[in-house]
Amino acid sequence: MTQKWMIYGANGYTGALIARTAVAQGLNPILAGRRKEEIHTLANELGLESRVFSLNEPDQVTSGLREIDLVLHCAGPFSATSAPMIEGCLEMGSHYLDITGEISVFEHAHELKQAKRAEDAGVVLCPGVGFDVIPTDCVALKLKELLPDATHLSLGFDSDSGISPGTFKTMIQGLGGSSSERKDGIITEVQLGKKSRTIDFGRGPKTAMSIPWGDVSTAFHTTDIPIVDTWIPMPSYKIAGARSLKWFRPLLATSTIQQIMHKWVDRSVHGPDELARRNSPAYIWGEARNAGGETRTVRIQTANVYNLTVFGSLAVVSRLLDMNVSGGSYTPATLFGAKLIEELPGSGKFQIF
Ligand SMILES: NC(=O)c1ccc[n+]([C@@H]2O[C@H](COP(=O)([O-])OP(=O)(O)OC[C@H]3O[C@@H](n4cnc5c(N)ncnc54)[C@H](OP(=O)(O)O)[C@@H]3O)[C@@H](O)[C@H]2O)c1
Repeated sequence: MTQKWMIYGANGYTGALIARTAVAQGLNPILAGRRKEEIHTLANELGLESRVFSLNEPDQVTSGLREIDLVLHCAGPFSATSAPMIEGCLEMGSHYLDITGEISVFEHAHELKQAKRAEDAGVVLCPGVGFDVIPTDCVALKLKELLPDATHLSLGFDSDSGISPGTFKTMIQGLGGSSSERKDGIITEVQLGKKSRTIDFGRGPKTAMSIPWGDVSTAFHTTDIPIVDTWIPMPSYKIAGARSLKWFRPLLATSTIQQIMHKWVDRSVHGPDELARRNSPAYIWGEARNAGGETRTVRIQTANVYNLTVFGSLAVVSRLLDMNVSGGSYTPATLFGAKLIEELPGSGKFQIF
């Protein structure tokens, strides 16, 4: 692989995990971010080239991306960082990948206007090459293949994984909002905790709550199935707690409260260590239904959330640099098929019911 590619946000928990694994796999990313000292220290330790630039100035982004064939964007929350990086990539002709799970970020990358610009520039835009959304996106496509006339799609996962600082901050941002699902092709708000059901994600039946997972956006782009909801296991008393959050939502959304919670995360949240990651696989589940009431269910066990983000994003980077893919907006499964998830380290095979 002779092309140049970059990890932006390489000093973060996930960016650094990806950088270290890339080197172990014999890859040579350029490490980048906005903090000079942290980026240079990590790049020196790993023997890699580095670049420091902010995303606030378009000129800085384009000069930071000179001669870069592909960016793996790991600096989140992506609602603040994705758009300027996408603009830079479209201008400089660099493929854009990220590890977002944020619905608004997926929708921005999949707007018709954006897809056309990417096509014209010969640039691949593929947000969501981490745990969110590779496994669920592949399950969605598998279900579409099994039941082509499906009208309803439900997707979910179960995992005991710990949580990283950036994921925690993204969740805190979401506390001021509600849940989402797709109805008749349109993304619609739903009160958090309003919908519950029982699901066997792979470890026996559990009560589950619908959440605003990235597939509410991406599964529609992958499958064209117009009704999509997304689920995680949640005990009934916590579902009731989530419902009562609605009274505090305006308060939780204020910048003062958000800043206090972000500072707490900076002090207290460090992400799961290697042992925790090794011992906490994830269980992915999906169910499709057609107008006649026929259903198909698919389950697959995968590596831990963060390990899958590392393995999945690097697999997409390597394949994209090795292949000649036309420009446009993609989901992981539309790029590399449903079997992508089965081919990643730590994954089992699809179980079909
Ligand atoms: N798809 C998935 O399944 C998956 C898995 C893991 C993580 N994630 C997402 O990936 C993101 C990173 O998570 P993490 O836990 O690795 O976070 P983290 O440890 O807090 O690191 C965040 C990184 O983003 C950078 N950053 C944040 N805001 C920025 C901005 N406005 N401009 C430039 N750089 C900025 C930070 O730079 P500074 O050090 O300069 O602040 C840091 O390098 C989160 O959004 C998280 O939700 C997704």
